[in-house]
Amino acid sequence: MNKKIVLKKTPIGIPKESDFKLVESPLPELRKNEVLTKTIHLSLDPYIRGVITGKHIYAEKVNIGDTIVGRTIAKVIDSKNSDIQVGEIIMCSNGWQEYGVSDGEGIRKIDPSSAPLSTNLGILGMPGLTAYAGLLVYGEPKKDDVVVVSAASGPVGCMVGQIAQIHGAKAIGIAGSEEKCNVVKEKFGFAECINYKTENLSERIKEVCPNGLDIYYDNVGGETLDIMTKNLAMFARIVLCGFMTQYNLATPPPGPNLGPIVGSRASIKGVVVYDHYDKQQEFITLASQWLKEGKINYIEDEVFGIENTPMHFCSLMRGENFGKTIITIN
Ligand SMILES: NC(=O)c1ccc[n+]([C@@H]2O[C@H](COP(=O)([O-])OP(=O)(O)OC[C@H]3O[C@@H](n4cnc5c(N)ncnc54)[C@H](OP(=O)(O)O)[C@@H]3O)[C@@H](O)[C@H]2O)c1
Repeated sequence: MNKKIVLKKTPIGIPKESDFKLVESPLPELRKNEVLTKTIHLSLDPYIRGVITGKHIYAEKVNIGDTIVGRTIAKVIDSKNSDIQVGEIIMCSNGWQEYGVSDGEGIRKIDPSSAPLSTNLGILGMPGLTAYAGLLVYGEPKKDDVVVVSAASGPVGCMVGQIAQIHGAKAIGIAGSEEKCNVVKEKFGFAECINYKTENLSERIKEVCPNGLDIYYDNVGGETLDIMTKNLAMFARIVLCGFMTQYNLATPPPGPNLGPIVGSRASIKGVVVYDHYDKQQEFITLASQWLKEGKINYIEDEVFGIENTPMHFCSLMRGENFGKTIITIN
């Protein structure tokens, strides 16, 4: 039998566990070219909130009764596809379920010896590529630049800061707890991290970056973005990547005043990871090497068992996750 989590009710505001339902169904019979895989790790990502409500531009809405979508690392346990062998580990999109069927379209084979499997969903996966491409293509970091990133303890944020430092820049993080800030400084090596929940962000950013920000990599929008626009160095770059403060809102709040962008001659670029898959191989080769050499680090917020997926996703959407949010299926 397969255990899966389906949508019971379209969430209003922050998703609740009661919006989801665990159901069991028999494993399907394989047809020609199909493979059956058992999920090892399931990635929980903020974009899933948009897919559930039909707001994501690249994915179809999840309807009531549908299995929730998501990227997975899975092991092939049966195969009617001559290109994919039983025992191989693949990246696929099983969603929130223990077993999935794939016709091989869009899968990627994973070498289990190159890095811990779960990192393919986090720092070496889509979030890592988002950080890498957004920072290098739009941020264009140079030696001694001051790079500030919000949601700094997450997979995107921690990679932005670590890659910035590999390129000789100084990384400053913004995060929502003392524990997160300590990890951002001690594990990810950022020069500083500001706790925006307990410190005065407007004052602290001036103290920490007296000459202004050369790059602001924005994962949250809202007041944090507004404060950063007022602290830009000349010719600063802002990379707009995510809006964690808005995903649970039915209507977005009034936007920040971007007037200071003009004064500082800054440019703003939005990053969409799907435009940068041509860089995926280059990124994985480089980042796997950095991981082996100890130049980058990562943290994961891991919970076991498919039945705990709704609880862990709701916690991500409340901002309580600490590191790349992963479900591991025993
Ligand atoms: N443009 C693209 O192609 C692309 C691709 C991937 C991801 N993204 C975006 O990148 C951002 C980071 O993604 P991630 O996977 O690395 O996530 P993450 O950082 O692991 O999780 C989100 C974090 O956002 C912070 N946050 C700030 N305000 C929040 C609020 N009002 N409610 C909930 N959380 C809040 C929380 O950290 P603190 O407690 O530190 O505030 C939370 O832990 C997201 O906005 C995501 O949508 C964009």
